[in-house]
Amino acid sequence: MAEILYIANASQVITMKGHSDKPAKKEAMRDLNIIENGSVLIRNGKILAVGPDSELKSEYADTIDSAKKIDARGKTVTPGLIDPHTHLVHAGTRENEYAMRLQGKTYMEIMNAGGGIHATTRATQEADFDQLYAESKKRLDTFFTYGVTTVEAKSGYGLTLEHELKQLEVAKQLNEDHQLDVVSTFMGAHAVPLDEKDNPEPFVDRVIQEMIPEVAEKNLAVFNDVFCERGVFTPEQSRRILEAGKKHGLIPKIHADEIEPYAGAELAADVGAISADHLLKASDEGIRQMAEKNVIGVLLPGTAFFLMAEFARARRMIDAGVPVALSTDANPGSSPTLSLQFIMNLGCLKMGMTPEEVLTAVTVNAAHAIGCADRIGSLEPGKQGDIAIFDVPNHLMLSYNYGMNHVDQVVKNGELVVG
Ligand code: NIG
Ligand code: FE
Repeated sequence: MAEILYIANASQVITMKGHSDKPAKKEAMRDLNIIENGSVLIRNGKILAVGPDSELKSEYADTIDSAKKIDARGKTVTPGLIDPHTHLVHAGTRENEYAMRLQGKTYMEIMNAGGGIHATTRATQEADFDQLYAESKKRLDTFFTYGVTTVEAKSGYGLTLEHELKQLEVAKQLNEDHQLDVVSTFMGAHAVPLDEKDNPEPFVDRVIQEMIPEVAEKNLAVFNDVFCERGVFTPEQSRRILEAGKKHGLIPKIHADEIEPYAGAELAADVGAISADHLLKASDEGIRQMAEKNVIGVLLPGTAFFLMAEFARARRMIDAGVPVALSTDANPGSSPTLSLQFIMNLGCLKMGMTPEEVLTAVTVNAAHAIGCADRIGSLEPGKQGDIAIFDVPNHLMLSYNYGMNHVDQVVKNGELVVG
């Protein structure tokens, strides 16, 4: 018999309908397609119908009779949130560096002295598969409790073929075992190993000649990402790495213009990246080129907050026609949070986004940023039954009562996983 779930009579159902074909830009980012007193029917894990409760009751009376019911009165229902940029799989924490930064040391000073990404690389290299799996699984469990039903996960704390593969294998296994979906990105070019700092070219060659072909051959990633930053990888090295990935079917992503302006946004447009992420220091010209080429700007205001830096110019990007998504950048150095809801608050309060734009940025545009908008990101018939139910009567309340977890229940593929 079919498994049917009836989420009934929510004060608002935010459907995000109509944005599955292409990411929402400009005014379309404020177009949430809200249904008041709305209901959702899910059959065998997929959405069957979404609409005003009165309509569903008359059209699907028999189906509703045999359904399991969740009473959503007074609540706000959204597509399960999507986090399109995380460093999920890693070992350890770096609260010591946090304390150093509070005393005035910068993120790059700490990294150049052998801490930062290098510290997490050492811990991740030392950790075996089971330890990494256990630490990362716990994070996925937490993501669920915050309403997130799909995450992207990057490698990049291995920096050798063996350890990069280990990170990606952990992500793959978690995707199979855990109900939350994990989409993988290879990020071998996350840092130049410390002992090769003065001569990075052989490492760049290894990423291109050894790692990318093996990762692609083993089908361990969909995307290929590079930390294009002064003192890490140059735009030229980044371009070579991203072009090499393309030859092996890996879609380019890029950590762009995070700490200093470095023409990362321009590079993203030029290589046809699906997204450019961070963009705190993106130039006007880079923003223009991203808009022209439809590169999604994945903004990570948690990183600006935690590094006490200037926030990305989301308002300018949206007005210029860049489709914007939001993400936690969850990682132990620059953004140790798993709360996409807090990121939504920052989007409004620190980057001038409207609450509507922010919701688009964590649902349908986030889905586009990881190439999954055909199955997640909106509540429309045929899509996955991934749903967050918030204990607030309207979507404005999500960013009004800030720093709180508003999740009441979470449904993944039609199954109640939280609440
Ligand atoms: O997205 N910028 C590079 N990578 C991460 C931080 C990684 C770390 O500090 O461990 C980021 O900010
Ligand atoms: Fe990142």
